[in-house]
Amino acid sequence: MTDFASLLVADRGQKARLIHLVDKDSFDPWLKKRPAEDRALIDAHRFDGKKGFAFVLLPRGNAFEVVSAVKNATELSPWCLAKLAESLPEGTYKLASGEPGKAALGWLLAQHRFDDYRSKGEDAQHGARVLITGEAARIDETVRLAEATALVRDMVNTPAADLGPAEIAQAVKAEANRSGGKFKVISGDELASGYPLIAAVGAAATPERAPRLIELEWGETKHPRIAIVGKGVCFDSGGLDLKPASGMRIMKKDMGGAAHALAVARLITMERLPVRLHLLIPAVENAVSGSAYRPGDIVKSRKGLFVEIDNTDAEGRLVLADALAKAVEGKPELIIDFATLTGAARVALGPDLPATFANRDELAAELEAAARDVEDPLWRMPLWDPYDDLLKSDIADFANASSSPMAGCITAAMFLKRFVPDEIAWAHLDTWAWRDPAKPGRPKGGDALGLRAVFEALKRRYPSG
Ligand code: BES
Ligand code: ZN
Ligand code: ZN
Repeated sequence: MTDFASLLVADRGQKARLIHLVDKDSFDPWLKKRPAEDRALIDAHRFDGKKGFAFVLLPRGNAFEVVSAVKNATELSPWCLAKLAESLPEGTYKLASGEPGKAALGWLLAQHRFDDYRSKGEDAQHGARVLITGEAARIDETVRLAEATALVRDMVNTPAADLGPAEIAQAVKAEANRSGGKFKVISGDELASGYPLIAAVGAAATPERAPRLIELEWGETKHPRIAIVGKGVCFDSGGLDLKPASGMRIMKKDMGGAAHALAVARLITMERLPVRLHLLIPAVENAVSGSAYRPGDIVKSRKGLFVEIDNTDAEGRLVLADALAKAVEGKPELIIDFATLTGAARVALGPDLPATFANRDELAAELEAAARDVEDPLWRMPLWDPYDDLLKSDIADFANASSSPMAGCITAAMFLKRFVPDEIAWAHLDTWAWRDPAKPGRPKGGDALGLRAVFEALKRRYPSG
């Protein structure tokens, strides 16, 4: 893991190269005050202060300063320094005026690399770009957010062959050891009898990659209980309803919900939010073999409802259903789940916006406000009761998928809703956990989407100290 703490350091008057940030309003007045050599160079580069992420190096003897265009120089976005952090020569830098604020996060994440699978020497080692900040009190928090985001990216990027249910359990155990939480894994006969849907989806996997429910409990009993649930499908082949090659290509990312849930748990425990946390991750591989569950099978869920399997590729909602049922038994006041649940959510909202469902307007508003403030966007979608009919089964209580391709992310959410009683506040994020194409500070591949928004909302709901 990148040593983020070494890349953002408190201002003690260290020597640093200055970075001037300008926007379309401040550029002209700023330029007027520059020496003639700067103006000539800036002109030669056709730098006009308007094109975001463009920058010019201004020589100062053997050293240099930097001028970079940002959208709004008075209100920095998390990503406005990312291009610089990716591109500048190694060294120590400082903003010429103001503090990095939110932009420190992008400075850090732009320097994170997932290079576990690059043979040595091939990927030239990038020197560190260190940013000096006058906001020493914010350093730890920013570093923690960068680490949590990097955790999601790395877990999602790790090939399915190297990250199965056992490895997810290992990652949760490491978190339990670090935080002093209680760790538990349910598998084998106990899983088959207590969590039939999780067992059914994972039935085709090899014994080493057997399905399991992974749990972590943390915090004092006097604090309000909350549950965080994450879809941990380590590879989604579709099962017997096999995906086509194009649809299967990035399905190593189908444990992205679990990665988000673990990252939120990590942030909660590290900031010691006054909650009693219950993390639940149903971890399975949706594989194909003679023991695979089949279309037309009917499984009695943990909650006692009979689910007819219409499509083995709608497996995420099945494993989540049993995990949500278990979460509900703990009587939490809030449940939040993350899942790479449907392609339909991506069709509806594209790559950037997790489709967010909530059974309370207040909870949706809290998430939307937090998302806006930390610039980790999400978009609310409706839990539209009439679409419940789309999950009708001829012979069971209901089916896991609809015969209509319409409103796929809503029907998936409606399926989950059957497992959460109305008395419990619940939000469901149908997230992509992936980035394509790349953006500054956010390479193509695994990414956290909705993680910072949810954590910010939790921090506001449960302020510490
Ligand atoms: N893991 C997929 C959803 C997915 C697909 C997320 C592509 C992101 C990108 C999920 O298990 C799935 O296959 N869902 C099906 C549901 C359908 C069979 C009702 C889908 O979305 O097509
Ligand atoms: Zn699927
Ligand atoms: Zn899936």
